[in-house]
Amino acid sequence: MVMDHGIINDKGKINSTLKGELYTSPTIFKLEKEHIISKSWILVGFAYEVAKPGQYITTRVEDENILIIRGKDSVLRAFLNVCRHRGAKLCSASSGKTGAIRCPYHSWSYSLDGSLIGVPNTSHCREELVHNENYALDSVHLEVWHGMIWINLSENPLSIEESLDTQILERFGELNTFSRYQIQNLEVAHRKDYEVEANWKLIVENFQECYHCSSIHPELTAALPEFRSGVGTQNSIGTGAKFDDTLEAFSINGKGSRPMLKGLLPEDDRTYFGMTILPLVFINLTPDHVIIHRIIPISAEKSKVICEWLFDPEEMAKPEFDPRDAVELFHRVNLQDFEACEWCQENMGSQAYKEGGILVPIEQHVSHFYNYVLEAIGMKMKVE
Ligand code: FES
Ligand SMILES: [Fe+2]
Repeated sequence: MVMDHGIINDKGKINSTLKGELYTSPTIFKLEKEHIISKSWILVGFAYEVAKPGQYITTRVEDENILIIRGKDSVLRAFLNVCRHRGAKLCSASSGKTGAIRCPYHSWSYSLDGSLIGVPNTSHCREELVHNENYALDSVHLEVWHGMIWINLSENPLSIEESLDTQILERFGELNTFSRYQIQNLEVAHRKDYEVEANWKLIVENFQECYHCSSIHPELTAALPEFRSGVGTQNSIGTGAKFDDTLEAFSINGKGSRPMLKGLLPEDDRTYFGMTILPLVFINLTPDHVIIHRIIPISAEKSKVICEWLFDPEEMAKPEFDPRDAVELFHRVNLQDFEACEWCQENMGSQAYKEGGILVPIEQHVSHFYNYVLEAIGMKMKVE
């Protein structure tokens, strides 16, 4: 399918945004689900949550219920959470631990590696069903990358390195900076879920530009004064933003109450890095914690965002540990960002936005995201 999305390019000075209908059309949303979300690595949790055999988490990606469970052989696997008998959802809890996967409907049971091991009251066809790989649970590609669990619904996904390391390289020019935050050794101390009345792309493009920072983020620009210029850290390779001189930590009161994460270098102190892992994840690195956002597109005009604050579990075990100072800062940023996205969403169907809006020069890099989306869904591009 080739369509003209209407981007103009005035010799590289001004690019238009996507047209309004790209943010409202159920048809476009369906194309994005089919060609972007169903083919990308999607963050669904953390390996420490399913560290022991039998531990599982469940989630929903696109139109699929997914079960992620560690086998008796300690291998972590992902399956469609769908009974092969008559399709019942096998595990309804968001997490748990089990010795076998038993369907609540007619009690078919599956081993932790997905093979069918029990079919009650079927003596005449039991032999045909049990341990027949045709009736095993449908498996889904799963990889653990820096301690985060990612699944991919496509049959032949790009390798996780090709897909995600490439984005780290684009952001930092190398892999070491990201690696030394050792996300695989951190745990979630706090989670907030946000219902956002906005298309997922508005949330991504908002995170990718800092032109809005001085208008709507007083706390963030107080912490990171260079953001007042409208130039964020994602504009240039390897760049982090330095804290204001008065700040000890990336927290609402600026006070430092935790040591730097293990493995960081002196130059990482008082520095913030933000990055996007397309299509649906943002990662913020700070000296004593990491903040990870996952966007869950619900419809063309609605999204959910899960934001999690990760810390060193050794710090979390201390009686005086209290993450609220860190949580409050980015929680406020989140509320400000999501409200801004909603201001836009409401007008995406307006006649005034039929041909889209414009990007000023310090937002131009957002057009790379537009191109990523348009190319994936088969629409014609006019700009670099
Ligand atoms: S639907 Fe699962 S056992 Fe019948
Ligand atoms: Fe923002």
